[in-house]
Amino acid sequence: MSVDTDIVPMAQPVLGEEEERAVIEVLRSGQLSLGPRIPEFERRFAERLGVPHAAAVSSGTTALHLGLRAIGVGEGDEVITSPFSFVASANAIVYQGATPVFADIDARTLDLDPAAAAAAITERTSALLPVHIFGYPADMPALEAHGLPIVEDACEALGAVHADGTPVGGRGHPAAFGFYANKQLTTGEGGMLTLGSAEHKARVDSERNQGRAPDMGWLDHDRLGFNYRLTDIQAAIGLCQLDRLDGMLADRAQVAGWYREALAGLEGLELPCEDAGGDVRGWFVFVVQVPRGADRDTVIRGLRERGVQSKPYLPAIHLMSYYRETFGHRPGEFPVCEDVAERSLALPFFPAMTEGQVARVAEALARVLDR
Ligand SMILES: Cc1ncc(COP(=O)(O)O)c(C=O)c1O
Repeated sequence: MSVDTDIVPMAQPVLGEEEERAVIEVLRSGQLSLGPRIPEFERRFAERLGVPHAAAVSSGTTALHLGLRAIGVGEGDEVITSPFSFVASANAIVYQGATPVFADIDARTLDLDPAAAAAAITERTSALLPVHIFGYPADMPALEAHGLPIVEDACEALGAVHADGTPVGGRGHPAAFGFYANKQLTTGEGGMLTLGSAEHKARVDSERNQGRAPDMGWLDHDRLGFNYRLTDIQAAIGLCQLDRLDGMLADRAQVAGWYREALAGLEGLELPCEDAGGDVRGWFVFVVQVPRGADRDTVIRGLRERGVQSKPYLPAIHLMSYYRETFGHRPGEFPVCEDVAERSLALPFFPAMTEGQVARVAEALARVLDR
């Protein structure tokens, strides 16, 4: 069989002359950190989501960590979350000495199942940490009904909108966004925590900067803090990315539409759920579930031989060795999550992807699946 050397990559950021110019401007300004672009990036991000505050931080993970600290999660607490996520959402709970209590996911949306979350609540539950996985809005009204504090993992969900018109991350709970290179908006690495309360904003601003309040003297610290700062170079890139965000989101949605059409006839292949009930996905990845009975590793190898990158995405967190060994998890606890995790496959997906590339991926997948 011939091996295709023209690879279709998994992801590709959209960066242009604007970002180049903005970075050079920061370099020439001499103010590489703690400069004016941080508050500007925060203001514009908060404005876009319709929230009072946003705090720029070094990653989505550090946003989650500071969000959990802001709502007071600590030693001995339980936080209910999804086992079908990137590992950082559960890790952030462990950083605080709390226990991640997993609940199964909804088979359609792949987000935390509100009924399973409700069943997992105990007297030690101090918060919920839903994840808007693959950019599909979690059922926030159902989760909010319990009256527990919430931190949202919106790292994959920039551009998503809830049925009531609220942007995901705009409900006033601390909501974490990530700006790694494959995200809807990238700063290389980076993150943002949107916040509804001025008190939370002050605490997060201090804790990301080694526990120093803005009115305190240099090298004076009145609480434990971290270095979770974003640089001005990253903020400058983020501001340019915000300018082009609507276009990039529209391009991603178009690529998803091409995929839907191209893959529609492949029997047994499950596609990402369609928007329903007014919820709108913010497209981040295009993840399919291979047909039952198909061997995913063979599919990945077959695609690679045809010049198409793909990745298993995501493994179940509770079955990772750290979580098994530390918390005693075993297969069978969360059957929906485990079934989805075993069959999930991320296909190449990025705003500049062409219809021809999508067709190539679809054709390769059809061949490999023998459809
Ligand atoms: C669902 C989810 N949570 C958390 C993170 C962590 O974000 P970061 O890699 O910016 O720390 C990511 C990003 O990879 C993610 O996809």
